[in-house]
Amino acid sequence: MTDATYRRVLLKLSGEAFADRDNSISPVVVASIADQLVDVAGTLGVEVGVTVGGGNIFRGTSPQATGMDRSSADSMGMLATVINALALQDAVEKRGLQTRVQSAVEMAEICEPYIRRRAIRHLEKGRLVIFAAGLGAPYFSTDTAAAQRALEIGAEAILKGTKVDGVYDKDPKQHPDAVRFEELTYRDVQVQGLKVMDETAISLCKDNGLPILVFDLLVEGNIRRIVTGEPIGTLVHAGHTN
Ligand code: GTP
Repeated sequence: MTDATYRRVLLKLSGEAFADRDNSISPVVVASIADQLVDVAGTLGVEVGVTVGGGNIFRGTSPQATGMDRSSADSMGMLATVINALALQDAVEKRGLQTRVQSAVEMAEICEPYIRRRAIRHLEKGRLVIFAAGLGAPYFSTDTAAAQRALEIGAEAILKGTKVDGVYDKDPKQHPDAVRFEELTYRDVQVQGLKVMDETAISLCKDNGLPILVFDLLVEGNIRRIVTGEPIGTLVHAGHTN
């Protein structure tokens, strides 16, 4: 072990993080994420759990699901996360790092069931653990699943990898004068309605003092920068340090 600031983290990857303009699962993007994970978990020795979303394939709350029963639509979303988890597992293992996929919905022919103590054991053995199928229940987002899993495995922070380099006061794509926050409190996020994670996830983090780091996943080396404490992105935590 290392110069890493964190010993154990939970990385939340949205489904969109797997996509590019032409593919819902882009081999190039998945390769880049896998390279970064092998660097951080393999080389730096940080214990990494990953919760994957499924929005690149299907999301229960999206227009694709119009007219569907919400529970059925969310079940489809959960299955989508398993597809992403298997893509990531394949890419990471091709690079020589052991992984285990654990699903909140049992599908023993495809992956392990989620068992908290077993997940922790895998992490201790240096394996990347990929958590799939959200919480296995409808009406919960994969952000909430990420917060829940992070707490269960004793992660010191949630790393929320996105396509923007942090949280802004307004949409930086539409407003060139948008300002990036270096840090925020959970309460700032709640009161200002900032789009960090959904409210259930923020509440869980707030109630348990779990820091959230929002950063741009697609800049190579950024996961390493985050786990070694470089001040990139936005830190959401209990109080301002200044
Ligand atoms: P230890 O031996 O405890 O270090 O961990 P391990 O994960 O290697 O042990 P195990 O013998 O349980 O698993 C061997 C392989 O089978 C691993 O690749 C697991 O991911 C896989 N595996 C274990 N349980 C299941 C399951 O329920 N379903 C599927 N599809 N694979 C499983």
